[in-house]
Amino acid sequence: MLSLLLLIPLIQLVTLGSAQGITCNVTSPCPTSAPCCSEYGYCGTGEFCLGGCNPIHSHSLNSCMPNPVCESAQYVFTDNSRILSNVTHFDGNATEWDWTLDKGNMLNTNTSGGELALLLTQTNGGSRISSTRYLHYGTVTARIKTGRWGGVVTAFITMSSIKDEIDWEWPGANTTQAQTNYFWQGFIPAQTNGLTTGGLTDTFSNYHDYTIDWQSDTLTWLIDGNIVRTLKKSDTINSNGVALYPTTPARIQISIWPAGIQGSPAGTVQWAGGMINWNDPDYASAGHFYTLISSVNVTCNDPVKPTDNVTSYVYTPNVTAFTPGIEFSNQTTINSASTGYIVNPLFMLAATAASLFLTLSF
Ligand SMILES: *[C@@H]1O[C@H](CO)[C@@H](O)[C@H](O)[C@H]1NC(C)=O
Ligand SMILES: *[C@@H]1O[C@H](CO)[C@@H](O)[C@H](O)[C@H]1NC(C)=O
Ligand SMILES: *[C@@H]1O[C@H](CO)[C@@H](O)[C@H](O)[C@H]1NC(C)=O
Ligand SMILES: *[C@@H]1O[C@H](CO)[C@@H](O)[C@H](O)[C@H]1NC(C)=O
Ligand SMILES: *[C@@H]1O[C@H](CO)[C@@H](O)[C@H](O)[C@H]1NC(C)=O
Ligand SMILES: *[C@@H]1O[C@H](CO)[C@@H](O)[C@H](O)[C@H]1NC(C)=O
Ligand SMILES: *[C@@H]1O[C@H](CO)[C@@H](O)[C@H](O)[C@H]1NC(C)=O
Ligand SMILES: *[C@@H]1O[C@H](CO)[C@@H](O)[C@H](O)[C@H]1NC(C)=O
Ligand SMILES: *[C@@H]1O[C@H](CO)[C@@H](O)[C@H](O)[C@H]1NC(C)=O
Repeated sequence: MLSLLLLIPLIQLVTLGSAQGITCNVTSPCPTSAPCCSEYGYCGTGEFCLGGCNPIHSHSLNSCMPNPVCESAQYVFTDNSRILSNVTHFDGNATEWDWTLDKGNMLNTNTSGGELALLLTQTNGGSRISSTRYLHYGTVTARIKTGRWGGVVTAFITMSSIKDEIDWEWPGANTTQAQTNYFWQGFIPAQTNGLTTGGLTDTFSNYHDYTIDWQSDTLTWLIDGNIVRTLKKSDTINSNGVALYPTTPARIQISIWPAGIQGSPAGTVQWAGGMINWNDPDYASAGHFYTLISSVNVTCNDPVKPTDNVTSYVYTPNVTAFTPGIEFSNQTTINSASTGYIVNPLFMLAATAASLFLTLSF
């Protein structure tokens, strides 16, 4: 019951872009002619089959391209050469690119050895990067300076193709707190699963290391190496025996997005600290709002270690307790038939906000 209610705002957001093509969902998967259900809920071919393509809402479980397998790495941003600036040109080759800029604009600043700046302007709708590789359990630490403006949200999350999600978020002008949250298949397991950690030194002026330590039995959030929250998978099991816990391979995403704008749900605006003041002196002097990322470290911890011939993850028909099976595969992740891809920015950046809004309002 709860989950149906929770879905409503997401569907409304999708509908806003429905003129852009055939939509897809669990009861209405994609047709053979446009087999892949994109992360934004539209059917298509080519790029629709890459990052975030939902196998369950697609024509068949293997319509989406396999997800590039995890590789432990230390990503730095002394320049932006490993970030593909236009995701429509991505073909699934995770060796060629570490990240894609899915939307918006980025810069490289060099105030402390080179950092990525993701920009928010009054017209760009926000910016987001996604890792080209997926993580199927492991530890991710991002060294970030957040925004500090009412209505502007900074986020560092993991997001799977079926919307298992683990979040760090920094809403609005409060620079002494960070919020954590998690979702199972887009649903909110409990009303209380968004939590706030306070007492941080200014998150705008200071880099902090934010960690998502996602293991198959426990999820831990850390700041500067100190645990601030622990969630056991066993504590997420509902009365039907289903663990409402993220289990599917996920991309790492970092974004800045406008929550305090016309058209956002009132609860989202409130959560984010009000409407954005585009006359803010920071905006006037820089020409944009921004978040800075100095490095991201990934340590994979697949439950079974991949052998050298493993290239990717695929979903299997073996569904146990509403949770699809994941297997290694040696299939290519590279899509030779990439086509144009229409992004629905409102849905892309609003999905997490809508979910959080629901956490607050239910
Ligand atoms: C799924 O999509 C179909 C077709 O757009 C729509 O009629 C239906 O209401 C949707 N169902 C859900 C659960 O979103
Ligand atoms: C990205 O590439 C596509 C296809 O070449 C092009 O139509 C689009 O304008 C490009 N977007 C940007 C922001 O450059
Ligand atoms: C993927 O990219 C790497 C690095 O640029 C390149 O060496 C390789 O040939 C590419 N693979 C394919 C199949 O295009
Ligand atoms: C930023 O500074 C670092 C360290 O001095 C240097 O290695 C890097 O090339 C610089 N990046 C840019 C884009 O200038
Ligand atoms: C990533 O790892 C390197 C090497 O251990 C370390 O110097 C750096 O501080 C780490 N960065 C983050 C964000 O954890
Ligand atoms: C910022 O958040 C912290 C932690 O939730 C809270 O104690 C503090 O009052 C907030 N500061 C402002 C200015 O709202
Ligand atoms: C299906 O999943 C269950 C639980 O993970 C596992 O025990 C079983 O071996 C799987 N079956 C197949 C055919 O993969
Ligand atoms: C990799 O090779 C091993 C040994 O030949 C084989 O057992 C395994 O199934 C292969 N894995 C994949 C994903 O192809
Ligand atoms: C890929 O895996 C299949 C079995 O899953 C195996 O038959 C094939 O030889 C493998 N190919 C490579 C290149 O490892």
